[in-house]
Amino acid sequence: MNKYTQYKAEVAGTGMHVPKKVLTNFDLEKTLDTSDEWIRTRTGIRERRIAGEGESSSTLAAQAGNQALNSAGVAPEEVDLIIVCTSTPDILFPSTACFVQKEIGAVNAAAYDISAVCSGFVFGLSIAEQYLKSGRYRYVLVIGSETNSRIVDWTDRSTCILFGDGAGAALLKRTESAGSGGLLSSHIYSDGGKSDLIIVPGGIGKTGVSCKSVEAGDYFIKMLGNATFKVAVKRMVEVSQEALEFNGFTHKDVDLVVPHQANRRIMDVVTEKLGIPADRIFINIDKYGNTSAASIPIALHEAWGEGRIAPGNLVLLPVIGAGLTWGAALIRW
Ligand code: COA
Repeated sequence: MNKYTQYKAEVAGTGMHVPKKVLTNFDLEKTLDTSDEWIRTRTGIRERRIAGEGESSSTLAAQAGNQALNSAGVAPEEVDLIIVCTSTPDILFPSTACFVQKEIGAVNAAAYDISAVCSGFVFGLSIAEQYLKSGRYRYVLVIGSETNSRIVDWTDRSTCILFGDGAGAALLKRTESAGSGGLLSSHIYSDGGKSDLIIVPGGIGKTGVSCKSVEAGDYFIKMLGNATFKVAVKRMVEVSQEALEFNGFTHKDVDLVVPHQANRRIMDVVTEKLGIPADRIFINIDKYGNTSAASIPIALHEAWGEGRIAPGNLVLLPVIGAGLTWGAALIRW
């Protein structure tokens, strides 16, 4: 606990929801010049979930959010703030968070979206941390939710194989109890100079929506995969070391790394460079692909559910995303 603050923020509950529809690498082989073997060895992905009719970032988010509230035993009316981290909002506005608020009945909550792409959840945690540690709010629901399948070009084999849909949530609670637990710190960064690495260039406020840009595929994800890979490793290692040093820990103190599930090889290289053994990384990219802002909260929920996180464990959450954005949070569970 930071000695200058009276309160701390703790994870009180987690939840997740993914669409039922599974798209395997073998399914992709039927429509793309790719193979299960290529995708598995280059990325670690075997399958991903795809939103169906009637499903959107808000519907997935509401289910994940409800589950987080249930697991914490907290009523929706008690939630002070809902932050939905998404780069695939249902519509331009109102925010996806407002739809979630309505759906879960969190009538007393303020609700808004943040856009930090894959880094969204850690950015969201850092916002929740400020509201809770300052004493302003008691419960903040942070949800990462994405329907990436709606913004990938299904003819571009270098991007569409990577992404999937889903939502993950964590309910953060303000506590006054003494002790060393809770969200210890969060560290977030951006570099707009690298915006071209991963981008959906289609304009809204810049050019307006036009048939020309739709036809040109400007509303699909464009990515420089190789360059992104290199900077992802560098930044995730750097910021993880910063989070550990800030709290007086070393890599040896980490019980579990729950990294952004962007690519299995990125996660392996990052943890290897940090000196953290492979059995202390949680990986579920094989089942879901890269679900952007949803990836860490989904992984956190599964890691906890599978007993990979025990009370008292030190959990490191490193992340990288378009922007460029990156960050890390450190939690004493
Ligand atoms: N199936 C088969 N071949 C493919 C393919 C696919 N799905 N996608 C690309 N290839 C081909 C390329 O065309 C290229 O062929 P060439 O050598 O004939 O030109 C070859 O595979 C190697 O491409 P390259 O881009 O160098 O592969 P890579 O090892 O870098 O893997 C990524 C590509 C996208 C998997 C990898 O760069 C990556 O994961 N980068 C990080 C992306 C990321 O995580 N973004 C989100 C961050 S939040």
